[in-house]
Amino acid sequence: MPIFAAEKIRKTFWDSNQELKILTDVSLSLEKAEFACISGKSGCGKSTLLHILGLLEKPDSGRILINEREVSTLSADAPQMRNKLIGFVFQFHYLMDDLTALENVALPLMVAGNNRKESLEKAESLLSQLNLAQRLNHFPSQLSGGEQQRTALARALINNPSIILADEPTGNLDSAHSADVLELLQRINIDYGCTFLLVTHDLGIADKAQTHYKLENGTLYKLK
Ligand SMILES: Nc1ncnc2c1ncn2[C@@H]1O[C@H](COP(=O)(O)OP(=O)(O)O)[C@@H](O)[C@H]1O
Ligand SMILES: [Mg+2]
Repeated sequence: MPIFAAEKIRKTFWDSNQELKILTDVSLSLEKAEFACISGKSGCGKSTLLHILGLLEKPDSGRILINEREVSTLSADAPQMRNKLIGFVFQFHYLMDDLTALENVALPLMVAGNNRKESLEKAESLLSQLNLAQRLNHFPSQLSGGEQQRTALARALINNPSIILADEPTGNLDSAHSADVLELLQRINIDYGCTFLLVTHDLGIADKAQTHYKLENGTLYKLK
């Protein structure tokens, strides 16, 4: 049974009077604990697709199913569902500047209605597992790029999501740090059984992923 599926996703943008058919027919399906990636040229629609899969943006048509249940950006409970089921890691970490690492990671738990003390304790434990125990009270500006990325990863993981969607998770890092982040993602994938879908133009990641799709001309091709 797939844990996550998209069926016939279509998305067109309008640029003045010109129609940009970004996604014409995208379907994919991921099993639990699958480590998958999507590669493709800059501008081919990777981020657009990830935003749609993550219920941040509406497709023109098509369906998204999590645990075989149809989820839709149209429904009023989409934000709740998104917060519970999907963890996001963006290329630019979007950590809150005036919250500490600890508070950034605890935030999704508090938003989901958990009490502050328990949320902070759980965040501390997760950050410690990601080797950030010495950085709990640092603000994002006081963290290195790799530390910010690990904090963003902890924030994505904190609600035990069904799937983690990551947009160019190594995009801003040098090759040594990219390798570290990739290794960490794979460790989390194995240790927590968390399903991953990464979007990347880094073919090093594609090599290491279990499943590799290429996005081209608005559709996905499964390469492995
Ligand atoms: N809101 C928008 N309105 C119009 N065009 C957009 C919008 N968002 C993205 N695009 C265009 O869609 C294409 C795909 O963008 P994107 O998904 O960001 O590509 P990628 O992540 O693969 O580099 C680009 O040509 C971009 O300019
Ligand atoms: Mg992009």
